[in-house]
Amino acid sequence: MTTPQTSGQDRTIRPGRRHSIGWLDAFLTMAERISPFHLNAALVAIIFGSSLILSLLFAALFAPLVGMHPEAPLFEIVVLTAAFVSVIIAVPAVMYANALLRKISGVRRQLRDALTEATLANRAKSEFLANMSHEIRTPMNGVLGMVQVLDATALTDSQRESLRLIRVSGDMLMSLIDDILDLSRIEAGRIDLRLSANALIRSLADTVALFQARAEENGTSLTFIAAPDTPERLVYDSVRVRQCLGNLVSNAVKFTQGGTITVTLSALPQGAGQAEVTLTVQDTGIGMDPAAQRKLFEAFAQAENTPVRDYGGTGLGLAISRRLARMMGGDITVTSAAGVGSCFVFRFRGKTLTPVSGGAADVVEPVASQTANLQGISILVVDDSTVNRRVACGLLAPLGALCHEASGGEEALALLAGCQTDLILLDMQMPGMDGAATLQAIRTSGTPWAQVPVVALTANAMEGERRRCLQMGMQGYASKPVRLAALLEEITRALPDARP
Ligand SMILES: Nc1ncnc2c1ncn2[C@@H]1O[C@H](COP(=O)(O)OP(=O)(O)OP(=O)(O)O)[C@@H](O)[C@H]1O
Ligand SMILES: [Mg+2]
Repeated sequence: MTTPQTSGQDRTIRPGRRHSIGWLDAFLTMAERISPFHLNAALVAIIFGSSLILSLLFAALFAPLVGMHPEAPLFEIVVLTAAFVSVIIAVPAVMYANALLRKISGVRRQLRDALTEATLANRAKSEFLANMSHEIRTPMNGVLGMVQVLDATALTDSQRESLRLIRVSGDMLMSLIDDILDLSRIEAGRIDLRLSANALIRSLADTVALFQARAEENGTSLTFIAAPDTPERLVYDSVRVRQCLGNLVSNAVKFTQGGTITVTLSALPQGAGQAEVTLTVQDTGIGMDPAAQRKLFEAFAQAENTPVRDYGGTGLGLAISRRLARMMGGDITVTSAAGVGSCFVFRFRGKTLTPVSGGAADVVEPVASQTANLQGISILVVDDSTVNRRVACGLLAPLGALCHEASGGEEALALLAGCQTDLILLDMQMPGMDGAATLQAIRTSGTPWAQVPVVALTANAMEGERRRCLQMGMQGYASKPVRLAALLEEITRALPDARP
């Protein structure tokens, strides 16, 4: 993985320069470490020693020139004068060097303090964002979960429309939170690419197809074209690539009324098993003037001439997409003209599949389904929040699941002992016995239910949380606010018999 670029500018230091800065840095660090007395003594010795050597050299050269014997009195006078002059130079030179060193080390101390402060502030920001995300996700799970529960009941048309508006607003709020989290993770270098062998053409065609209905509403034609020799499959981070492409196509659809949008896909082999994939999103929409294009990839930037209220969005999409594209060894560039249209080119690198790495083993195929067969499956929902337990049960019970509820780890263990359980949905953050401790108690219980499949249901959506849960011994992970499709995907993966 290449190092993420946190700013638009590329500040590189040439190797030779870095080398000399390294020496200077080592010298200054040593000068800062030794006491001022020793430093002064060393400087005096260096200056005095080198002036003496210079004087002797000078005298040795000067004497033969004037035909004088080195032991003549004039020669001694020359040596003494040179030594005297060098001492005269040494005193102000030492004072000056001292003052300079003190100044440099003062500046270096300030820089180090500023760096420590910035690192601490950045860590505090990341922690704040993680906490904020967790705190907002928990109540949003109640809001969006109950919307899904209500949606499955009998409603009048106007009630269903009101419900749709609540869902759309909730989704917008969640995508804003996700974008802010993404940006802060990228800037802190805390995003890892998840590379796996994935369908390329089908996956990207599906992403474009998601926007077909919206394009049609605008009277715009949306076309996807894959170049003839594009590989069917590639090793790449399909989630992040779809996120970038999704934003480009969503922008094109937003800013094009009654025109055309063409998405083209091609891939060029780069040798050593690498391929560069190019996606071009060309639209005949409102376009942008050069001033707007210059600010395009900055966070929260939106072109001044776009009536934001009409189009929606936060101006984070392109900032995130470009950073992700660069992490994937590519970039996003744009050419555009106001009133004519825009053309975004998104490049990223992937690995071509060899027969060995191309096996199906590393492919996680989605098994999402809104209609998994949960008939008679007994699910224990462990969550300290009554609302969240009701959401999970409200979503799963209509599909035939027999749901039981526990408000904490101890209650869950008591229930497991008393009734047959096929799967546990486990909240990770609970007062007292948390998710990890509950899982540990279940796995080490030595009971028939010790290996019951567990799916984490958590408001912690930070990078690496899924991996952490799976490493702990869970069979799945779903983040709050929970989506029925995503939850069913995890349940059906943990319980293969539940597939429809
Ligand atoms: N295809 C396009 N045509 C015209 N303007 C565009 C196009 N794509 C982006 N822009 C301009 O760039 C701005 C930033 O786009 P970006 O995707 O970063 O944010 P957004 O779409 O406003 O919000 P978000 O993607 O975060 O929901 C847009 O608001 C718009 O002004
Ligand atoms: Mg956007």
